[in-house]
Amino acid sequence: MAKIILTGDRPTGRLHLGHYVGSLRRRVELQNSGEFDKIFIMIADAQALTDNFDNPGKIRDNIIEVALDYLSAGLDPEKVNIFIQSEVTELTELTFYYMNLVTLSRLERNPTVKTEIQLRNFETSIPVGFLNYPISQASDITAFKATTVPVGEDQLPMIEQAREIVRKFNSTYGEVLVEPDALLPNNSVCSRLPGTDGKAKMSKSLGNCIYLSDTPEEVSKKVMSMFTDPNHLKVSDPGSLEGNTVFTYLDAFCKDEHFEKYCPDYKNLQEMKDHYQRGGLGDVKVKRLLINVLEDELAPIRARRAEYEKNIKGVYDILKKGTDAAKKEAAQTLSEVKAAMKINYFEDPSLLEGWQEKYNG
Ligand code: TRP
Repeated sequence: MAKIILTGDRPTGRLHLGHYVGSLRRRVELQNSGEFDKIFIMIADAQALTDNFDNPGKIRDNIIEVALDYLSAGLDPEKVNIFIQSEVTELTELTFYYMNLVTLSRLERNPTVKTEIQLRNFETSIPVGFLNYPISQASDITAFKATTVPVGEDQLPMIEQAREIVRKFNSTYGEVLVEPDALLPNNSVCSRLPGTDGKAKMSKSLGNCIYLSDTPEEVSKKVMSMFTDPNHLKVSDPGSLEGNTVFTYLDAFCKDEHFEKYCPDYKNLQEMKDHYQRGGLGDVKVKRLLINVLEDELAPIRARRAEYEKNIKGVYDILKKGTDAAKKEAAQTLSEVKAAMKINYFEDPSLLEGWQEKYNG
């Protein structure tokens, strides 16, 4: 069976380090592994509208930002199709049919949706489209017969919902759809990178993000004001690693080589952590290391972005080409779905034959 990747992001803002370690970095590795037959990366504008329906300008503006972030992170338009969700209208059609296969109470049980409803104060009036987005996400995945969906762990309930829909569809109408597997980050720190304030998750609305497109000055400023151990007041005090954001980020980004290059007092992160816990290591030194480590990762991304920014028409054409390719793929699946559901009236010659036989003998 073909190995196919589908994943994507909501275009509600520029992409940040949480997106990067949670999924983006992995996508580039997967793209370069040569193990996959097709890769589709979706800018999920229709999903973004499920909780931003009254702010369409924001979604439109961020399409180009996300596209630039993808390309600058190293996604190669020769190897992946980057496309815009709403342009692939087949996805909406699939969603309509999948809605019959899912109960309201099943949607209400989705833990990620539950949390999001609370965050958005939707409790008293949940837009139907919002509650429904896990079904629409199942369409995104199954339209491409994706086998592999690289995502952060908050997306696991969506993949589970998609798998249930596939099983229900296939058992009701015949084997058409493919059950996808989630591919989580291989490092648990990367599954959920905290914000710079130490809060659970990097999120634009909390203002605790480091963006892929931040300047070196912005990155440095944000790291210097990062949450560490509030009880580590004097350098000589023993410090705690628990909830210490600077160390969490080092866990996500730092390699042994970085110590040789930027902080030769230690061989590796473990030695530095030990010293911090014993006391005698100040936050500033750890933060300086983190700034260097992040710059190693971000400098090439920034440089690629600068190149792509010079040719926005080129980026537009990449989106157009990727969207055309995605449409073709989704149309093929939709036609198989409609045939299985017996709603392919004008594509099935046996239909007319049967009707004629019934009435014209
Ligand atoms: N829900 C994802 C997010 O919040 C975006 C998304 C939409 C997606 N459709 C998808 C991810 C399909 C993986 C597969 O970022």
